[in-house]
Amino acid sequence: MGKKVVVTGVPGVGKTTVINGAMERLAAEGIAYQAVNFGTFMFDVARKENLVSNRDEMRKLGKDVQKRLQQAAASGIAAMSGDANIIIDTHSSVKTPTGFLAGLPEWVLRELMPDMVVLVETDPDQILMRRLGDASRVRDMEGARAIAEHQEFNRAVSAAYAMYTGCTIKIVRNENFLLERGIDDLVGVLR
Ligand code: AP5
Repeated sequence: MGKKVVVTGVPGVGKTTVINGAMERLAAEGIAYQAVNFGTFMFDVARKENLVSNRDEMRKLGKDVQKRLQQAAASGIAAMSGDANIIIDTHSSVKTPTGFLAGLPEWVLRELMPDMVVLVETDPDQILMRRLGDASRVRDMEGARAIAEHQEFNRAVSAAYAMYTGCTIKIVRNENFLLERGIDDLVGVLR
């Protein structure tokens, strides 16, 4: 069986950037991984059903609709992953208008059964600046304190994922000017 690694972090922390760097490094070493974005699987279904016009609208949908999209994404990813090593780019929790929604509830974990959940983190003020500098997305406006609270919640909910699946939890720091260090850290646990 290949490794199943779930990589999470608050919006704009740099999950995709760190994953892309790690994928390049691993490919150069001849270690094959496939990277998939959970939100893209959800968005494909949501767009077909005319529920949203961009991916940032999904977290504003009703809780039950988001849960249905999660289920569809989890089964789609489980069906395609087979025995390959896979990295799943997603969220430990999603900030919705009615509170935090677990990104990996029981019905998602049962499909994915990850070996490891990675939390990509950095200082909240750095995340705030990255969000402000990214015009391609429709980010929710929130301050450094709210971002810190979201990162704390992600650690807490990830402990529950470890209890349910027996997966390990790895924290990778992705600090300004230190991207390569974050990539090294991720590659170290993916080899
Ligand atoms: P998704 O597409 O995953 O949204 P996101 O978290 O907002 O992802 P981003 O790609 O914007 O952030 P990122 O952390 O990958 O940062 P990036 O590398 O781009 O999900 C979309 C939606 O899907 C969610 O909102 C949710 O609704 C839904 N969803 C997904 N999973 C779900 C689940 N399990 N359950 C329910 N819903 C789910 O980098 C950001 C910027 O920072 C870039 O400009 C980059 O250049 C810069 N940067 C990165 N690293 C550094 C560094 N070290 N120094 C300086 N700048 C850096």
